[in-house]
Amino acid sequence: MVALFYSLFSASAFFWNPFGLLHATNCNVSTLSSQIDLPANQTQLVLPTNSTPSFVGLGFGVQNYTCTSGNNFTNVGAVAELIDVSCLAGSSVFLSLPDTLFSQWNSFNGPSIQDVILENHLINNTDILAQHYFITNPQTGQGVSPKWDFTSSGKFQGNQDAFVVGKGTGTIPSPNNATTDVNWLDVVAIEGEIADVVFRTDTRGGQPPASCTFGKSPDISVKYVAYYWFFGGSLGQ
Ligand SMILES: *[C@@H]1O[C@H](CO)[C@@H](O)[C@H](O)[C@H]1NC(C)=O
Ligand SMILES: *[C@@H]1O[C@H](CO)[C@@H](O)[C@H](O)[C@H]1NC(C)=O
Ligand SMILES: *[C@@H]1O[C@H](CO)[C@@H](O)[C@H](O)[C@H]1NC(C)=O
Ligand SMILES: *[C@@H]1O[C@H](CO)[C@@H](O)[C@H](O)[C@H]1NC(C)=O
Ligand SMILES: *[C@@H]1O[C@H](CO)[C@@H](O)[C@H](O)[C@H]1NC(C)=O
Ligand SMILES: *[C@@H]1O[C@H](CO)[C@@H](O)[C@H](O)[C@H]1NC(C)=O
Repeated sequence: MVALFYSLFSASAFFWNPFGLLHATNCNVSTLSSQIDLPANQTQLVLPTNSTPSFVGLGFGVQNYTCTSGNNFTNVGAVAELIDVSCLAGSSVFLSLPDTLFSQWNSFNGPSIQDVILENHLINNTDILAQHYFITNPQTGQGVSPKWDFTSSGKFQGNQDAFVVGKGTGTIPSPNNATTDVNWLDVVAIEGEIADVVFRTDTRGGQPPASCTFGKSPDISVKYVAYYWFFGGSLGQ
C-alpha cells in the first residue's frame, strides 16, 4: 500500500479535482427543489411531494457500454465521483458548472475515474459527497442496479446505511443535446437510507456512438458529467 501510494503521487497528472478549492459543502438544500432544472411539459421526472432535497452532487465519471448483436451499444453501468456542491445550488454559477466541469474532464488525459476516486480517498478530500457505481440487482440477483455510496466520504464515513440503490421510474432525452448527453432520470430507492428518490439532470456527455460491430467493437467508457439530486432519506442532511 505504501508503494502504491507513492507511485500514484509521483505521477504529476494524477491529481485531478477542479473544484477542490470551492469547499461548497454541507449546506442545507431542503428548500431548493425549484433549482432543479426540469423542462416544462414532461411527466417523467416528478418532484416528490412528501420529501425535500437532502443532497446535491455534481458527478463526473464514465458511462460503460458493450456492443450488442443489434450492432448498437447498450449501457452496462457507470462509475462516477460526486462533488458536494450544496452551497452553490441556486447561485448564478450553478447552471454553468456542468459545462465547465465537462470541458475539463473530457479533455483530461490522466488516470482513470477509479484512480481519481482512490486518490480523493487517500487525501481525504472533504469536497467529495459520494461514489456512484453499479451492483448486482439486489431484488432479482440478475442484471445491475445503480448505487450511490456515501459510506466512505464526509460526515457519513463508516455509516453502513448511508447509500441508496435505485430503480429507474422515469427518463427524458437530454434537453441540451440528446445525441451527446445521456438521458435525465428519475430513480426510486429499493435499498439504503440516504435517499428515497434520486434525479439525474443537466447531463453532459456519456452517449455512445450510434452504431458498432457486434463481436468486433470493444467495450467502451464514455466520459460524462451530471447533477444528482437526492430527496428524503432517513439520515438527515
Ligand atoms: C434545513 O432547513 C430546513 C428549512 O429551513 C429546516 O427545517 C431543517 O431543519 C434544516 N436542516 C438542518 C439539518 O439544519
Ligand atoms: C407547454 O404546453 C402548453 C400546452 O400545450 C404550451 O402552451 C406551452 O407553451 C408549453 N410550454 C413549453 C415550455 O413548451
Ligand atoms: C439496438 O438494436 C436493437 C435491435 O435492432 C433495437 O431493438 C434497440 O432498440 C436498439 N437500441 C438502441 C439504443 O438503439
Ligand atoms: C466501467 O468501465 C471501466 C473501464 O473504463 C471499468 O474499470 C469499470 O469496472 C466498469 N464499471 C462498470 C459498472 O461497468
Ligand atoms: C477525513 O476528514 C474528516 C473531516 O475533516 C474527518 O472527520 C475524518 O476523520 C478524516 N478521516 C481520515 C481518515 O483522516
Ligand atoms: C449535438 O451535438 C452534436 C455534436 O457536437 C452536434 O453535431 C449537434 O448539432 C448537436 N445537436 C443539437 C440539437 O444541438
